[in-house]
Amino acid sequence: MLCNVVVLCFWLLNAGGFSASFTLRQSGRMVCTFVEEQYHTGESGGAEVPLQRNVLLLLNSPDTEEERAARAREFQHGGVVTFLVKDPSLHVSRHADEDTDRLQCEMKRYSTAGIHVPWPGAGGAEADAPDNWFTCTIKHRENQFSVTAFLRQPPSPESELRFGDTDTLRVSAVFAVRSGPAVVETALRRDVRLDCGFSVDHARPDVTVEWRLQLRGERRKLFSYASRSGQAERLEGEVSVAEIPRGNASLRLAGVTLKSEGTYICSVYVPPLYSSQDIQLDIVERPRVSVSPSSSLTLQEGAEEKLACDIDGYYPLDVHVEWLREIPGERRLPHVVKHILFTSHRHNPDGTYGISAFFLLRASLQDHGVDYTCRVSHKSLRVSIRKRVRLAVEARPQTGTILLICLFTVLLMILGVMLKHLHKARQTSNKRKPY
Ligand SMILES: *[C@@H]1O[C@H](CO)[C@@H](O)[C@H](O)[C@H]1NC(C)=O
Repeated sequence: MLCNVVVLCFWLLNAGGFSASFTLRQSGRMVCTFVEEQYHTGESGGAEVPLQRNVLLLLNSPDTEEERAARAREFQHGGVVTFLVKDPSLHVSRHADEDTDRLQCEMKRYSTAGIHVPWPGAGGAEADAPDNWFTCTIKHRENQFSVTAFLRQPPSPESELRFGDTDTLRVSAVFAVRSGPAVVETALRRDVRLDCGFSVDHARPDVTVEWRLQLRGERRKLFSYASRSGQAERLEGEVSVAEIPRGNASLRLAGVTLKSEGTYICSVYVPPLYSSQDIQLDIVERPRVSVSPSSSLTLQEGAEEKLACDIDGYYPLDVHVEWLREIPGERRLPHVVKHILFTSHRHNPDGTYGISAFFLLRASLQDHGVDYTCRVSHKSLRVSIRKRVRLAVEARPQTGTILLICLFTVLLMILGVMLKHLHKARQTSNKRKPY
């Protein structure tokens, strides 16, 4: 009985998502997708190399018998290729310290494109055959950061281009490039920092850092620095050269304008390894919304009035505007006013946009106490902006009443005329009296 309860509790905990999850730093292990860029066919009828497969990444893990047995149990079905990564100096997991569920990892082979520079780090210089290189890119699923680590497999007789389904590859992390959020949003005229950094496994590396901006197919260089010459080229933005030896290549943009928008590419080259990170900078500017007539309006029944909503100073161009008819206190979905007219887009000198949305309201008594609300949604807004006009409608006097008033006025006039005549008649009769 007790046993059953315990089992049930475990089951509930797991079903409720309480199963233990670890950050990459805590667990030091992660499943990655290994992508083959070239399609290798097996020679003489051998098996073809799959284009994508899962591999296991183990960071600084002791390659013990128990560890191997645990792996075999976990991946019973078909086994798994394991990358045993030695990472004593870069601490890749520290730069991607997040729940492994919230990370995605992709591995590839890396080609030095014919450049045979022996790796200057530990164990690199004595090798006469070229190293095998892999890259491992760990990204936050919500694009908060990205880290690309270069994994070196020293040349050895058994290190081949192909590896079997259960092979274990011993590699070391020697170079890593990381960046902050892949998409940065900012308002105009603000200062922005785009984060980019790197780590290398040896001191005083020969490093070249470059920032470029790509916009609609056009690329322009913003900054470059080569540690070998000590020369920096500063064209746009600010990078602190003093920070570069510390692995900090962040770019600061002061007072962004619409020309600052685009994809920023931070590239770091430590021969023979080259890595670049893309960061997209989007400008978003909030609209200012006003309605006219403002806040409250009193109309005579049957009168017409133009209700206009003015939206100004927003960027980018896409904006969604609606006029709603709402009865205060009523929980029903608001009624969307049809036949709204729009002015054409205004283009402000600072690059932002403006538009007006209006309609002609003919006041009826059912409109008394009703709110007409202009609702604006835009990329810059989490919650849409609402501006309302509360309407009061005064009844027009009834036709019967008007007739009565007319009749009464006419009667009064007739009475007036009669009194005048009477008065005159009396005066003349007074004059005529001879005595
Ligand atoms: C990198 O350098 C910039 C100055 O260019 C500084 O503002 C920033 O705090 C530094 N980042 C880190 C992580 O040290």
